[in-house]
Amino acid sequence: MTAVLTPVLSKNWADAKSWTLAAYEKTGGYNALRKALAMTPDDVTTEVKDSGLRGRGGAGFPTGMKWSFVPKDNPNPRYLVVNADESEPGTCKDIPLMMATPHTLVEGIIISSYAIGVHTAFIYIRGEVLHVVRRIQQAVQQARDAGYLGTNILGSGFDLEIVVHAGAGAYICGEETALLDSLEGRRGQPRLRPPFPAIAGLYASPTVINNVETIASVPSILAYGKDWFASMGTEKSKGFTLYSLSGHVKNPGQFEAPLGITLRELLELAGGIREGHELKFFTPGGSSTPILTAEQLDLPLDYEGMAAAGSMLGTKALQIFDETTSVVRTTLRWVEFYKHESCGKCTPCREGNWWLVQMLTKFEAGKAREGDIEKMLDLCDNMGGKSFCALADGAVACVTSAVKHFRSEFEAGYKTPAWELLPYENSARFSVPATTGAHA
Ligand SMILES: Cc1cc2nc3c(=O)[nH]c(=O)nc-3n(C[C@H](O)[C@H](O)[C@H](O)COP(=O)(O)O)c2cc1C
Ligand code: SF4
Repeated sequence: MTAVLTPVLSKNWADAKSWTLAAYEKTGGYNALRKALAMTPDDVTTEVKDSGLRGRGGAGFPTGMKWSFVPKDNPNPRYLVVNADESEPGTCKDIPLMMATPHTLVEGIIISSYAIGVHTAFIYIRGEVLHVVRRIQQAVQQARDAGYLGTNILGSGFDLEIVVHAGAGAYICGEETALLDSLEGRRGQPRLRPPFPAIAGLYASPTVINNVETIASVPSILAYGKDWFASMGTEKSKGFTLYSLSGHVKNPGQFEAPLGITLRELLELAGGIREGHELKFFTPGGSSTPILTAEQLDLPLDYEGMAAAGSMLGTKALQIFDETTSVVRTTLRWVEFYKHESCGKCTPCREGNWWLVQMLTKFEAGKAREGDIEKMLDLCDNMGGKSFCALADGAVACVTSAVKHFRSEFEAGYKTPAWELLPYENSARFSVPATTGAHA
């Protein structure tokens, strides 16, 4: 075994009733809060900044720096909004974390709010995961009953309330400004920036928006210190993180490891590719990150390593596909998702995704024509970087990277249906009846 796991967030996931306050306190829960409340808010921010923690929601923006953007002289209330929308295909880390140890998030919110000077924090959760909404509501209530929330928390003079808000289940509401519109009761569509949320966010007040995993990492930094956190990971990508492996691996699931681990090492920890098969391609961080192939197995899975390979670390959702998988079919499924989730605000994304689905459907059916690859890439060129938010960039990334690595499979789509080239039943993880249809 060349790599080791570093369970911090996931350390107690298998404990009996790990989600209860009693179980959390038994393992030292809320001690980091006590420590933080004995420090000045600026010192807490500095600790987080110096740890090197970067946002785990996709872009990897330095967390402490984001907190320090909130202007000190703005008389409006400040808000912290936790982004728990988790809808990116393949991404499944925030929901398990909130189900297993919701108090890690609640403690993280209290410490972060104290540092930023927030008295009302919000958790915006995708409404479809009702069981998670209930679990978080229960944890917030337990924390309130125990004196960790409300007025004069633990005698510190600091007041905080947490509002749990369930969204209606839209991928675009994970985009931070669309989330704010949705939280304000409007249709969730991205806002024009500037102004950035740190200056004018929720209700036009200074607002910090952070991902669940980002905020849940804060208590451990306070408990064990910035140097401990920075001792893990790579030079610019510090700490541990939750990698989610799904698809054609023997043991799919969440693997908490230092940033910079390679996919080869992660696969080893996950028992490898399913028996008798080999890796064909993978997403490093959800479907919005350009796909990579077996050639990139030994690259560090950190922000810099993935950027150097022409992709992104994203949400660290590694969807693994073996040689039985049709790239054309996979790309079509992803783009169908983006077409469905496009909020419709701007033309390149609203129309472009619709056209991409039409074209990919032809490739899948073996009915595309010579020149259609170039036409599809031209369409992508008119969407990427020319749309209002990054949703369209994600759609384009999966198409262009698929063509880059597997052009011949798209060329085969001039004559041969994808389901004949790579029969779909061969790629099912479990045996399914043989089918031939495009939407098998
Ligand atoms: C279409 C789209 C969907 C997104 N969905 C999520 C999401 O579900 N959860 C999340 O934390 N960030 C999501 N983001 C990123 C957020 O806009 C934002 O960068 C993030 O919440 C910031 O938190 P962090 O700094 O802690 O990473 C999404 C971005 C886009 C463009
Ligand atoms: S890129 Fe798509 S999701 Fe984003 S604003 Fe435009 S239409 Fe909406």
